[in-house]
Amino acid sequence: TSSNEELDLVVIGGGPGGYVAAIKAAQLGLKTACVEKRGTLGGTCLNVGCIPSKAMLNNSHIYHQTQHDLKSRGIDVNGVSLNLPNMLKAKSTAVTGLTKGIEGLFKKNKVAYHKGAGKFLSANEIEVTGLDGKVETLKAKNVLIATGSVPTTFPGIDIDEKQIVTSTGALDLQEVPKKMVVIGAGVIGLELGSVWQRLGAEVTVVEYMSAVGAGMDGDMAKAFQRTLTKQGFKFKLSTKVMGTEKLADGRVGVKVEAAKGGNEETLEADVVLVSIGRKPYTEGLGLENIGIQVDERGRIPIDSEFRTSANGVRCIGDVTYGAMLAHKAEEEGIAAVEYINGGHGHVNYDVIPSVIYTHPEVAWCGKTEEQVKQEGIAYSIGTFPFAANSRARTNADADGMVKMITDKETDRILGIHIMGPNAGEMIAEGVLAMEYGASSEDIARTCHAHPTLSEAFKEAAMAAHDKPIHF
Ligand code: FAD
Ligand code: NAI
Repeated sequence: TSSNEELDLVVIGGGPGGYVAAIKAAQLGLKTACVEKRGTLGGTCLNVGCIPSKAMLNNSHIYHQTQHDLKSRGIDVNGVSLNLPNMLKAKSTAVTGLTKGIEGLFKKNKVAYHKGAGKFLSANEIEVTGLDGKVETLKAKNVLIATGSVPTTFPGIDIDEKQIVTSTGALDLQEVPKKMVVIGAGVIGLELGSVWQRLGAEVTVVEYMSAVGAGMDGDMAKAFQRTLTKQGFKFKLSTKVMGTEKLADGRVGVKVEAAKGGNEETLEADVVLVSIGRKPYTEGLGLENIGIQVDERGRIPIDSEFRTSANGVRCIGDVTYGAMLAHKAEEEGIAAVEYINGGHGHVNYDVIPSVIYTHPEVAWCGKTEEQVKQEGIAYSIGTFPFAANSRARTNADADGMVKMITDKETDRILGIHIMGPNAGEMIAEGVLAMEYGASSEDIARTCHAHPTLSEAFKEAAMAAHDKPIHF
């Protein structure tokens, strides 16, 4: 792209929101550039988020299962040992393959990729400071901000990404810590806590709230906590962290006390993972030059068509409202580009799935039971345990259940909550059903293959509107 040619769209940020938007725009025939300063495409998700964490979750699960679960299946293996450098290498290989793949997709779709930091000079001029130091200015009719988020940190706790780490450091520890303290029992804490627990760490999770899972359905949170405790996790709920200190032996002391005050104690740790949420990222973006003010949580305000207060500038993904999830950012990227192209975009915020990729997995979409109660909706519940599902039993992997919440009057599905093997894949059926406004009877009368885990889903639907057969 030459500097004086006006583009139809410049996307700032090459994460799942930004790169998907750029590809979609190019497919629609818009002359498009994407500016990314990381040096690789894919954003948080591909580089230090979804993808490396799932590589470590999958491989640590295989390691743990090989050690502890194969004997009872009639498979005797001897001398199983961990090669952490190679496990980290496998993770990096997955990441590099996928980030390079997006570069390939950019070429195929003719998206101009600018490696550098973008900054607004005006609403249609972006200054790009290249990683090679060169500065150029891109002119565009439209700009899409997709600059994502970064970890929230504690005042007074210094992250060194070695001993006191965010998710980024926790995905690249060079040694298995003996003791790991995780601050925050949300998605990152439970996923990455699982990784290191399976590889041999003693993991204690400190959480301010009285439940794990950062707002998941109450029944599921209780069941999930029980399961993780059986796996060896220790939990300190309703507990707040006051600070950290360096101990004489070089380890870290984490000072905690009850959320209400009192019961002070110091937890000793080789590694502390700070996972208390993420915050929108707009540093150096030059928002002040186009009159955009972020809200009290650092988010860029937008309207229902992703427009910011600056003319021709829209915004999507983690840096604005809503769930900080890759698939949510992607949906928004496509919808925003459809609006830019003069059409109509569609994101149904009521049915965005959430998945925690532990073992078992936890997945949900729609409302929790606590939410429907609070909204005063008359509801029915159908549950079905995997212990009563033939495939889960055959696989000796039957911890968990499916819970369906329906409107008592109309039978329309309001929420689906699953803890179980492959819950993250199974939730797709629930999302589709909800997107189409299905009732539980619709699902109960749909033929599901036998023997599959998905029969548990059908039976939960049967339970919601009538009775299940196998429980
Ligand atoms: P990001 O992915 O954060 O991308 C923004 C990009 O913009 C970055 O690459 C940044 O370098 C670039 N940028 C910022 N400012 C500028 C600038 N001025 N100029 C140029 N470039 C700039 N979500 C899921 O859905 N599933 C998961 O399994 C999952 N696992 C996760 C695991 C971890 C450990 C973490 C940390 C997150 C995980 N997430 C997961 C969340 C997911 O990564 C984010 O929701 C997603 O990446 C948001 O996409 P985005 O495009 O909005 O922003
Ligand atoms: P989170 O919001 O999921 O959980 C943070 C937890 O920390 C909450 O339970 C909160 O109550 C607790 N907390 C906050 N302050 C605290 C304090 N001072 N002391 C003790 N506990 C405290 O945030 P997390 O786990 O950092 O993840 C950030 C985001 O990244 C997630 O919300 C999610 O959007 C995304 N993500 C998604 C994944 C997935 O989809 N599988 C995986 C990992 C991250």
